[in-house]
Amino acid sequence: MNKSAFCKGGPRVSALAAGCWRMHEWGRDLADRRNWIDACLDLGIDCFDHADIYGDMRCETLFGDVLRESTARRARMTLVSKCGIRLPGTTPDAAIPALDHKVYDTSPEHILRSVDRSLANLGTDHLDVLLLHRPDPLMDPDAVAEAFVRLHAQGKVLHFGLSNHSASTVDLLAQRLPMPLVTHQIELSAWQHAPLRDAVIDQCLALRMRPMAWSPLGSGRVNEPSPVRDALARVGAELGCSIETTAVAWLLRHPCRPIPIVGTGRPDRLRQLALAADLRLEAAQWFRIYEAGLPGGLP
Ligand SMILES: NC(=O)c1ccc[n+]([C@@H]2O[C@H](COP(=O)([O-])OP(=O)(O)OC[C@H]3O[C@@H](n4cnc5c(N)ncnc54)[C@H](OP(=O)(O)O)[C@@H]3O)[C@@H](O)[C@H]2O)c1
Repeated sequence: MNKSAFCKGGPRVSALAAGCWRMHEWGRDLADRRNWIDACLDLGIDCFDHADIYGDMRCETLFGDVLRESTARRARMTLVSKCGIRLPGTTPDAAIPALDHKVYDTSPEHILRSVDRSLANLGTDHLDVLLLHRPDPLMDPDAVAEAFVRLHAQGKVLHFGLSNHSASTVDLLAQRLPMPLVTHQIELSAWQHAPLRDAVIDQCLALRMRPMAWSPLGSGRVNEPSPVRDALARVGAELGCSIETTAVAWLLRHPCRPIPIVGTGRPDRLRQLALAADLRLEAAQWFRIYEAGLPGGLP
């Protein structure tokens, strides 16, 4: 699988990324988790997406158990993680009391503590990319910039980005940071393509910053009967590939060059999805799928 940069000067990653959000649900032992990571790497999928909170803060550790076995795997991968959400009953530091309700927290104290915990859990000395997970209405952009500069100077985080933000907030932070944002991670799929119309993708194109597309199979909606599934099946039949592969190829066809983060825990399904990297939809095929996901069709 080809590798290319998130943006000019950004890290080079595979065309697809692997999501670790569901790793705690897979109920697998260490050998199975190692096999899943190795299946990704063998397919050329070298970018792994995490967040401090995934699996009630357990997923990074489940993944890190494999990295602690050998340093060779870490050297082959790009690790992305996120911070900025605090879940009830959890804490990034035993000295900090757990909250009884969810908050978004982009204070420097929380960002720095969260990164230290992610590094310990993942068994690595640096993150390749750190993202702010969700927009925080109390965010102070200068304070975020201060935290990012410190993490970068300490060598704990090499690059930064955002997730689920508006185009205007991306602009705001980009103005305050001394380093470029390398990606914006958003929900984008054949089922959910509002960012194509709400300025977020225009901004990615303007900045030449490739988005990461979460839930590329609609978080499993791929199996539910729908006009989108019917359109994917029709185009897939023309291309000679599965509905799921077509859904990923649909994303890859966009000129913003999104990086779909696939969430399957099954190596056989990973192999199917990786085939999308070698497909190119015709514009008419792309529009058939796009229109199927537009309430009321194309204007
Ligand atoms: N930034 C954010 O706010 C945010 C939010 C959500 C997710 N994410 C990231 O995006 C990643 C992917 O999200 P997602 O898991 O919702 O992605 P997805 O690829 O759209 O959905 C994967 C789910 O679909 C199931 N599935 C059913 N049939 C499938 C098939 N034929 N092929 C592949 N999968 C099939 C998978 O089950 P099996 O495992 O049984 O195959 C899995 O439960 C997450 O791991 C996380 O890293 C980020």
